[in-house]
Amino acid sequence: MRRLPIVTAAVAVLLLVMSGCGQPAQDAGSVWQSVSEANLTKGQMAQREKALAARDAMFTSLKSRLMEVVGSEGPAAAITVCSQEAPQIAKRISQEHGLTIRRTSFRLRNPANSPPNWAEQLVADRAAEPTYLTRDGQLAALLPIRLQAQCLMCHGPTDSIPDPVKAALAKQYPTDQATGFQDGDLRGWFCVEVPADAGS
Ligand code: HEC
Repeated sequence: MRRLPIVTAAVAVLLLVMSGCGQPAQDAGSVWQSVSEANLTKGQMAQREKALAARDAMFTSLKSRLMEVVGSEGPAAAITVCSQEAPQIAKRISQEHGLTIRRTSFRLRNPANSPPNWAEQLVADRAAEPTYLTRDGQLAALLPIRLQAQCLMCHGPTDSIPDPVKAALAKQYPTDQATGFQDGDLRGWFCVEVPADAGS
């Protein structure tokens, strides 16, 4: 019986070591697993279709609003489309499509757009192709966004950004990292999470 405290202490140390000491807690048995597109099940394919449809809807809405406001009020005014309307559009499309969608990047303009946990490593690796992960029946999709010509006035090399835009960006986004991109560059990703029942 005298040995019991020692054994208890040893078990405690072992448990501490096994728990990974300060590693971010991962729900035991429910970590995100990456799954290649070719290996998606039928249900996961249906979830993927939902993710792609939401991505298309959000990209189309954002671009058409951007172009509308650039045309009517100029590029500096269009900044509010991205700062105020983009989160609203994301919310509306999330509700309409029964999932969550947002945008992220490895060079953020707004730090609030930092990636969700499941996407952190992929973002650091600059995943250039659509990537899928699953957990407990959910499907997460990280879908690349490439820069297009109409994005340059706000994300291009600094000399291609009109002065009023530069001034507005400097004021609203003091830590802006999202300039210096060229047409065709990887700009960031849509992060989509499709719930478990959505594929059925
Ligand atoms: C009128 C200026 C403007 C134009 C044009 C514009 N953006 Fe943005 N973009 C912004 C602003 C402002 C933000 C920060 C939004 C926020 O506060 O969430 C942003 C954020 C983003 C983000 C989210 C990640 C981050 O850095 O915060 C992505 C991705 C993005 N833009 C891609 C694009 C793409 C692709 C295009 C072209 C189709 C585009 N943008 C056109 C101003 C613009």
